[in-house]
Amino acid sequence: MGQPQQPDQAEAEAGSTGSARTGSGSIGSASTGSGSTGAGKPPLRVGMVGYAFMGAAHSQGWRTAGRVFDLPRTPVMAAICGRDGAAVRAAADRHGWAGAETDWRALIARDDIDLVDICTPGDSHAEIALAALAAGKHVLCEKPLANSVEEAEAMTVAAEEAYGRGQLAMVGFNYRRLPAVALARAMVAEGRLGTLRHVRVTYLQDWLVDPHFPLTWRLRREAAGSGSLGDLGAHIVDLAQYLAGDRLTGVSAMTETFVGERPLPGQSARGLSAVPAEAATGTVTVDDAALFTGRLGRGALASFEATRYATGRKNALRLELNGEHGSLAFDLERLNELSYHDGREPGARAGFRRILVTEPDHPYLDAWWPPGHGLGYEHSFVHQARDLVHAVAEGRRPEPSFADGLQVQRVLAAVEESAGKNSVHTPIAV
Ligand SMILES: NC(=O)c1ccc[n+]([C@@H]2O[C@H](COP(=O)([O-])OP(=O)(O)OC[C@H]3O[C@@H](n4cnc5c(N)ncnc54)[C@H](O)[C@@H]3O)[C@@H](O)[C@H]2O)c1
Repeated sequence: MGQPQQPDQAEAEAGSTGSARTGSGSIGSASTGSGSTGAGKPPLRVGMVGYAFMGAAHSQGWRTAGRVFDLPRTPVMAAICGRDGAAVRAAADRHGWAGAETDWRALIARDDIDLVDICTPGDSHAEIALAALAAGKHVLCEKPLANSVEEAEAMTVAAEEAYGRGQLAMVGFNYRRLPAVALARAMVAEGRLGTLRHVRVTYLQDWLVDPHFPLTWRLRREAAGSGSLGDLGAHIVDLAQYLAGDRLTGVSAMTETFVGERPLPGQSARGLSAVPAEAATGTVTVDDAALFTGRLGRGALASFEATRYATGRKNALRLELNGEHGSLAFDLERLNELSYHDGREPGARAGFRRILVTEPDHPYLDAWWPPGHGLGYEHSFVHQARDLVHAVAEGRRPEPSFADGLQVQRVLAAVEESAGKNSVHTPIAV
């Protein structure tokens, strides 16, 4: 596992070089893609599939990255894709995309797109990514990489072959790009904690506490692959392994589905705030919560909790690493801060101290605001776009790669297997 990438010197840029091509299956627009310009720099023309939650977040990333960071290529928001023509055109205008398509195959077929960004539910990740790689595009794919290990394996094989042709493929574990998380990784790699003993990670949300919340795609196995496990657990498995610079060797797990039947969603149901529209109900086919423990390759113990039933917890991703020399702790709800305890200080003076991660020499921060002027959730997507543009320009394998996404998928599969066998310890396949 690599080191966090450091941002370049900031140099704001303005303007647009968006391409406004309209073709068969395309919906025309007067606007050009917003992205940003860098005079004389080659464009990186992006086509994105999906325009709801992650579509909006990734749009922020592509729109902003080249305006804040001095990038070697200029992201151009060429076209966005969704299945509803009017809605996708409205989304293109709102988020700054030049064109709109109603079929992802048409998006991939366009010769004015270099990179396909997949922001759809997991059931379409493999098909879209495989087609995009076969068509010669770079790919960014949201997490979890796929809905099954088999799909993730096929995607990883295709990504490796594509790398040989100069194409890159990255999976969107965006929390790695938060400055405090990148700093934590750097401090672990510097040896500040010494040998790691524990990694403790929880990801708690509460949007399913209401039993009348409808049966949206996240609650159906055929669409989402798994429940809180793939949705939240994938993030914390990736973060634990990334921060530790190590990998899980096996897990013991419990999962639970607390509400088995839910109202069917209406046509307008969206994301995490859907309202029920029908009296009919359907069966929840995924886990509502997943708890598991595991051992990392160099011996540290790790514990994980992912749930969408933690009443009062909105997006509480918390982690702590304890090592022989010290500890680090992070809380997504205070994302500009990192807590650090140096266990080598005299006991009378030791204690957790708060590092305000807003200094110009902190990861990504030299491009942003003066110290103390904090960043937010959306900046992780700006940094994700920034890092991918650098990787493409340098022809360097991006991290996390599809192979990293596959390994996380294997952990998720082992968690489900263990939970189905009364928590028996289950090795992670390699
Ligand atoms: N990185 C993160 O922090 C994070 C957060 C939330 C979701 N995600 C992941 O992002 C992905 C999307 O989740 P979301 O919350 O944005 O979902 P969403 O329901 O908000 O949006 C899904 C989008 O995909 C579109 N879509 C679905 N099938 C399509 C198809 N066949 N062709 C074209 N468009 C299609 C929908 O119209 C919609 O625009 C999932 O893999 C999810 O796990 C990641």
